[in-house]
Amino acid sequence: MKFVLNRGKTTVNLKKAGLDKEKLEDELMTDRVIIFDTTLRDGEQSPGATMNQHEKLQLARQLERLGVDVIEAGFPASSEGDREAVRRIASEIKNSRVVSLSRSLAEDIEASWAAVEKAHKPGIHTFIATSDIHLTHKLRMSRDEVIDRAGKAVRLARSLCDWVEFSCEDATRSDRDFLCKVIETAIREGAGTINVPDTVGYSYPAEISELIKFIRNNVYGIETIIISTHCHDDLGLAVANSLAAVETGVRQVECTINGIGERAGNASLEEIVMALRTRQDHFGLVTGIVTEQIFHTSRLVTAITGIPVQPNKAIVGANAFSHESGIHQDGVIKERSTYEIMDPESVGISKSSLVLGKHSGRHAFRERMQTLGYYLTDEEVNLTFICFKKLADRKKTIYDEDLEAIVAEEVLRTTETYKLISLTVMAGSEVVPTATVKMMVDGEECHGAELGSGPVDATYNAILKLTGRRPNLLRFAISSITGGTDALGEASIRLEEDGNIAAGKGAHEDILVASAKAMVNALNRLAYMSRIPRSSVRL
Ligand code: KIV
Ligand code: ZN
Repeated sequence: MKFVLNRGKTTVNLKKAGLDKEKLEDELMTDRVIIFDTTLRDGEQSPGATMNQHEKLQLARQLERLGVDVIEAGFPASSEGDREAVRRIASEIKNSRVVSLSRSLAEDIEASWAAVEKAHKPGIHTFIATSDIHLTHKLRMSRDEVIDRAGKAVRLARSLCDWVEFSCEDATRSDRDFLCKVIETAIREGAGTINVPDTVGYSYPAEISELIKFIRNNVYGIETIIISTHCHDDLGLAVANSLAAVETGVRQVECTINGIGERAGNASLEEIVMALRTRQDHFGLVTGIVTEQIFHTSRLVTAITGIPVQPNKAIVGANAFSHESGIHQDGVIKERSTYEIMDPESVGISKSSLVLGKHSGRHAFRERMQTLGYYLTDEEVNLTFICFKKLADRKKTIYDEDLEAIVAEEVLRTTETYKLISLTVMAGSEVVPTATVKMMVDGEECHGAELGSGPVDATYNAILKLTGRRPNLLRFAISSITGGTDALGEASIRLEEDGNIAAGKGAHEDILVASAKAMVNALNRLAYMSRIPRSSVRL
């Protein structure tokens, strides 16, 4: 049955907009907030967060387990690598919609469709800027030209795909009447979701509420579509702004795990979801997120990107559920709700992290890995089990964090170009530090020794000599993964080379080996970035 909504001058054909009456009732009028995750696209725009195809696929699988409604898998026009990554994600993911970003250009939209067309639930997201600042200085286009471009883009996208989202980049700094005209055009051409982004993180909650109300009151056909928001965190208001928008009728929120993203990042998925859940009394809304998967997803993003979470970060920071003050501890022991508004287990933080020992078998190992959210193939279990056994020979107790480090080393971090084979370091108060490194470089085994001002410096000099790379070291830090002097040490590193920034992590009982692994991990990322030609297209 054709369901048409008449309002004022505009007649909106819901079929054309990819919607039907049932869907309207289900999604537009209900209390369900659609979670649109853009960790793999906007999140990947964080300096140093570049992920290769293997890493993107691992993360997409976890986002599906987390229950996100929409996965924005990438921006195919930006690189060959992204095109292939989106294609692989689209061909595997079944439950979440897989969406690809495109500028309002035919070649971008066609590339997006080519990447997602095999998806179970495909989607095309197209955008153009609507603020005068962007029109004048970036696009160098008139308002009429922008309306024309937006209309053509949505029309083309809808001719290819039923699900189309249109975004007005820099919406919060746009002239409101013009913004409404662009949105009306996109709806008329068949966009089913309209996104109102706070691209530069400039807005504040009352203002974004006002804007959404204005759009709802002034755009013909707005009742037929889902309004979305996409807030950046430049003023630390991304989550507050997203929630204010939700209170004013927005039913899709775009967000990222750990809030990673361009500049100060995006609204954090875990904070939005847990705010909606914890304050259900106020919002009266639900999401489809399996909240028990939140913590693991956050750890996975850190393991893959090498970008750590600050300890005091809400929901997933190391201190989020720890009580330091005696009064608080006493209160929590007597009654948890005195100082805790959420149960740590509801976000997947287990009470005990003491797990396996030297005598644990493969079955217990695999089960524990699954509890942690790692669904490993037989081959991956074999690989990680050997590492576990080796570690258990040297370390009495193996914690969840140790298992996570093993998976990160052996499964998540690919060693496409460089692989460390061995490291021998001579150091102390009376000798000149010397490091001897054996490693694989492009499939060939090579070795060399170098001096340095300290053991880490000597190790890095040797690795850089063998790889022939000359990156600038932006950051280097060592921390211990668990307690005790036998704990695994974790090294984090950030490198810059020819404008590319890469993060790296490495874990080992010996902090020098951990440091070497972190360097090799970051060099692999730099090699990936220089190998995959990025077009000049940047958002
Ligand atoms: O921040 C932004 O405006 C974006 C758009 C492409 C949605 O990322
Ligand atoms: Zn963005």
